Order: sequence, then structure tokens, then C-alpha cells
Amino acid sequence: MADLDDLREGNNFGLGVATQQQGFHVKGAANLSWGMKDRLSRIFNPATGKAVMLAFDHGFIMGPTSGLERIDLTIVPLIEYADCIMCTRGILQSAVPTDVNKPICLRSDAGTSILTELNDNVVIDIDDAIRMNVSAMAVMLAVGDPAFEAKTIANLYATVDKASRYNIPVMGITAVGKQMARDARYFGLASRICAENGANIVKTYYCDGFKKVVAACPVPVVIAGGKKLPEKEALELCYNAINEGAAGVDMGRNVFQSENPVAMIQAVHAVVHKGLTPDQGFELFQDLSK
Ligand code: 5RP
Repeated sequence: MADLDDLREGNNFGLGVATQQQGFHVKGAANLSWGMKDRLSRIFNPATGKAVMLAFDHGFIMGPTSGLERIDLTIVPLIEYADCIMCTRGILQSAVPTDVNKPICLRSDAGTSILTELNDNVVIDIDDAIRMNVSAMAVMLAVGDPAFEAKTIANLYATVDKASRYNIPVMGITAVGKQMARDARYFGLASRICAENGANIVKTYYCDGFKKVVAACPVPVVIAGGKKLPEKEALELCYNAINEGAAGVDMGRNVFQSENPVAMIQAVHAVVHKGLTPDQGFELFQDLSK
């Protein structure tokens, strides 16, 4: 019980001043509940509306690919510069320090490996995501793949059903099978299907006509980096995507396979959040690499 001595009557009710209505900085999320918005705000910086997510979930399908052989040596030093980290539960529990205090986007599906064709993925238990206090769950969608389209859409749907009970946002990742065209028509279709099935964030690839992909997707779109590019080209990719409406990047190889990953993630951060041009971003990368 609080001390009742000197209990003061309230006298500052702002009478005549309308209650402040807050807008919300994440696309398509204004009608969501407090827990969802809190988690989305941990990922997307309220000041810029953008996010730099560091993806290092590749091992779930590729094993110890270049740059991910030793998470403790190569990835942990990058985490402080990321707004959010994306990884599997195995790596999170075994190699990510518990005091990093960054939102986690948990890779929540798994199935097969690069040794076979596409994944017949299943999703992890929601209890595990809750136990690990994640800020989002990510599952892949194989739109257009005759064998796995229905299964992966059902995975997304089931994940949204479970995650939304606990106000955990879901990110849909649009996979590109070898037979798919990497164009705005395909990415627009796949991204929209993610959102229609309840994804709160969509991860897809940058392409010509990207503005249309973003315009027709009612939730934030973040881009994957894809295969390793020279640093300046990777920064150009980030710049173009942001300029054409992306809400951020969820990048892996172009950061952790860079000549200087610590410098690269800071340059990516500056392009995404501060609007640096690719030239300015590359200059920053070079300066930080000295
Ligand atoms: C694969 C993924 C990867 O995390 C993603 O592709 C990001 O990594 P990169 O920038 O290396 O492409 O979601 O499903």
C-alpha cells in the first residue's frame, strides 16, 4: 500500500485538449493490438519506420556455409549493429548470447536440405517461440511450386493462427524456385499471398518494378540480399529497395560474406535509416574498413 501521507489530488486533466491519437509507423498494423505493435516496434524503428534485420538462418538448409562456420566469431560481433536478428532456434540457443537484447525473428519452419529439391517444411511449436521470447516468426512460402505451394501456404496460415493468439507477428518469406520468373509479377503475387494469409511482414527480393510489389502489399516488405555482390552493388540494392518503398532489409550473405562485415552492416544501416546514397554508403564502408 502506498504511503497515504501527502496524497495529492490530480489537477492537470488537460480539459479542452483532445486526447492524443497515435498513428502507427508500421504499414497495415494500425488495427493490431498492443502486444503486436510492441513487437513490431522493436523490429521497425519508430523514428524511421525501417529495419535492418540480420539474417543468419541459412544453416538450417545449407549447413556451415561461408561466413557461418563459427557464429560466435563472425555473427555475434555484428549483432549490436542490427535492429533485429533472424536465425533458427538451434543457433539462437547455442550461439547467441542471452544479453544481446535484440528482437528475434525466429526461423520457424524446417524440412530438408540443399541436397534435395524444395522443402516439405513443417513449422516449429508455438511454445518454443514463446519460451524464446521472439518478436516475430518467419516461414517460407513456395508460391507456384506444384508440389509444395499448398503445404507451405498451410504452414503460413497455421503459424499465423498460433502466433496471433500470443500477439507474435509472422513474416512470410517468398521462396523462388528455379522455374519461377524473378519479376514484379511473381514477387507481387507471392508477397500479396503472404499478406492475404495473415503475414504481418513480407520478405521478398528486389526486382524491376519493385514499387508495384510494395504498393500492392498491405504490410511492410523487406528484401533479402541474395547472393554475395560487390559491396557497392549491395548498397545500391538496399538504396533502390528503400527508395522504392521497402521497409528495410533482411540481409545475410552480403553482410557476413563481406570483406569487412562490421563495416558493411553499418553502411547498410546508414543507407536504410539515414538515406545515404550508394556512393556515400560505400565511402562509409571504406572509412570504417581502414
Ligand atoms: C532463406 C532466407 C535467408 O535468410 C535469406 O535469403 C536472407 O539471406 P540473404 O541476404 O543471404 O539472401 O530467408 O529462406
